[in-house]
Amino acid sequence: MKAINEMKLVFPSRSANEAYARAAVAAFVSQLDPTVDELADLRTAISEAVTNCIVHAYPDRIGDITLTVRLYETGRVTVKIRDKGCGIEDVGLAMEPLYTTGGEERSGLGFSVMESFTDRLKVTSKPGKGTSVTMEKLVARRGGDTEKAPEAKSKGRAKKR
Ligand SMILES: Nc1ncnc2c1ncn2[C@@H]1O[C@H](COP(=O)(O)OP(=O)(O)O)[C@@H](O)[C@H]1O
Ligand SMILES: [Mg+2]
Repeated sequence: MKAINEMKLVFPSRSANEAYARAAVAAFVSQLDPTVDELADLRTAISEAVTNCIVHAYPDRIGDITLTVRLYETGRVTVKIRDKGCGIEDVGLAMEPLYTTGGEERSGLGFSVMESFTDRLKVTSKPGKGTSVTMEKLVARRGGDTEKAPEAKSKGRAKKR
């Protein structure tokens, strides 16, 4: 299915950009009129994915993080977060709850959070090349059909003239 709207951001893996990334996605997704809870879930999941790029993908350098958001007519939102960092040797193992290579200060629950706060999570990675995390979430779209809305509006204006 073709996306009705999409955006792409590329930003350096500085920790200040984690808050920026989740705010930018929330602002963009708002056009689908999601619930407050749905937006909060997306923000949480995005924080985890972006933090992983900052902390794990580029542990001792600053690299690019590419974030792509696509919106679909059905209310489906896909968010892809890609890095060109160190990559993950065993994705299945990395996704297990409590697994971490980050030592004491990491919980090992990032992927579990992404999984439970979205409807679908896909992770692909190549050691030495980077990692791509795609999350999918269906939001409510209380605003109704965006395809029909502009037409209805212009009809209304025509009548008034
Ligand atoms: N973008 C990434 N690049 C490289 N390794 C990653 C990336 N994301 C996750 N990982 C690996 O997967 C492990 C589990 O990630 P996560 O569930 O978020 O837990 P945590 O970040 O607390 O370690 C990390 O410890 C790390 O080894
Ligand atoms: Mg993490």
